[in-house]
Amino acid sequence: MSIATSVKHKLLTDNPYDGIGTFLYSRVGPPALQQHYQIHTRALATQLPSNARVLDVGSGPADMILQLARRRQDLELVGLDPAASAIDTGNKKAQKQRCTNVEFIQSGADSIPRPDDYFDVITSIGSYKHWPSRENGLSEIKRVLKPGGEFYIFELDATAGRKNIPSRYKLPALVAMPIIKRFIKVGSISKDITREEVLLAGFEILQETRVDYMPLYQFVLTKS
Ligand SMILES: C[S@@+](CC[C@H](N)C(=O)[O-])C[C@H]1O[C@@H](n2cnc3c(N)ncnc32)[C@H](O)[C@@H]1O
Repeated sequence: MSIATSVKHKLLTDNPYDGIGTFLYSRVGPPALQQHYQIHTRALATQLPSNARVLDVGSGPADMILQLARRRQDLELVGLDPAASAIDTGNKKAQKQRCTNVEFIQSGADSIPRPDDYFDVITSIGSYKHWPSRENGLSEIKRVLKPGGEFYIFELDATAGRKNIPSRYKLPALVAMPIIKRFIKVGSISKDITREEVLLAGFEILQETRVDYMPLYQFVLTKS
């Protein structure tokens, strides 16, 4: 591949989070989500049994799954993302942080190379709205989730307001609220649609809440 073709590929992929997108998103997304990762990984690390298996669908720059890996070295962790650059970033960070219990797999939610009933917990943060077929993604997740296991969906909440913005972003948010609101609206899928889709896919809803310290909503789902 010539340098020009390689640069073009890095800049213009179908997935806006691939190539340079991983680099750009890394500067904005994970820093804003830090508090959320901490609360989520602390809760998982406390509740998961020994040697449990966790999958993060759309793991992106991998900060959440690596944080969980550092908290619990006995867990078997998988980060899945279709973006080659996200996988590359995850592998490099894992090596740097000496996390040996995470594997990164380049794939979409609709193709998870693991047997049926494999994972104790599956999470997805800000990725659900990007799946080309959410129906296929949900069906594949249902296949690899253990009966009684938990599937967490976190998504941008278009109904969120200023009080749902983390405190360090409050002042800039005051000025930028119209832009932020617009971004959230364009880049989100409503809670009602998500609820309809997960029920149609046969999941049972254990919990449906708004995350009050972030413009996110959360579903905790299971299968019997
Ligand atoms: C907003 S980023 C979120 C990344 C990460 N979860 C985080 O907490 O920062 C959305 C991610 O979803 C991934 N994605 C896009 N299409 C996907 C698909 N079909 N299946 C799984 N993930 C996908 C993107 O590559 C991107 O890394």
